[in-house]
Amino acid sequence: MDIQILTLFPEMVIPYFESSIMKRAVEKGIVRYRVVNIRDFAADKHRSCDDAPYGGGAGMVMKPEPLAGALDFVGAGSKRTVFPTPSGRLFSQEYAEELAGEEELVFICGHYEGIDQRIIELYDSEEISIGDYVLSSGEVATLAVVDSVYRLLSGVINNDSLSEESFVDGTLEYPHYTRPEIFRGMRVPEVLLSGNHEKIRVWRKEHSLKKTERVRPELLT
Ligand code: 6GU
Repeated sequence: MDIQILTLFPEMVIPYFESSIMKRAVEKGIVRYRVVNIRDFAADKHRSCDDAPYGGGAGMVMKPEPLAGALDFVGAGSKRTVFPTPSGRLFSQEYAEELAGEEELVFICGHYEGIDQRIIELYDSEEISIGDYVLSSGEVATLAVVDSVYRLLSGVINNDSLSEESFVDGTLEYPHYTRPEIFRGMRVPEVLLSGNHEKIRVWRKEHSLKKTERVRPELLT
């Protein structure tokens, strides 16, 4: 998968691709990425990328020209383009699975109050929100979306891990334990030491349901 990220702050984004599981996915050739600095496409001598909103009001809006320059540079006209914003459609595991089917994705990281609406329309950008709260920048939201998508690509993560995790069957994941058997007086549930795979499966299913009822009851309705 080809991932291109347009941002005013490349230094927020690049280390993510150079760390941990993503680093390995890049080394294996499963993910190719490019981080583009929108400011490189600003035309005036101050390289300004934002301006006051027409109609007045608080905050600044990202100007269309630098964004269009950066979008044209990455060929966004013919690629699926995602604009993470708190005013977008709610992101989900299902949405991540859909994006994981794409060969190429372009992400626009917004700053300030937002971006000029004409960019959203001209590049047919999908506005997606990662939850009902507000972040100060699009970079964090973009990386959350990218992370949920690339980990679904074949070869990134063991298939068993993917099929057992939260949301896949509509419930949250069961509790996990590792050594030692007793930690600060707390024992690992006996059944997990039993070696009885059927009993373990039943225990996990039950605790998965219990936890979902307790913290996310709406998932069960
Ligand atoms: Cl996608 N962006 C920002 N800035 N805040 C958010 C968000 C996105 N989703 C929820 N809050």
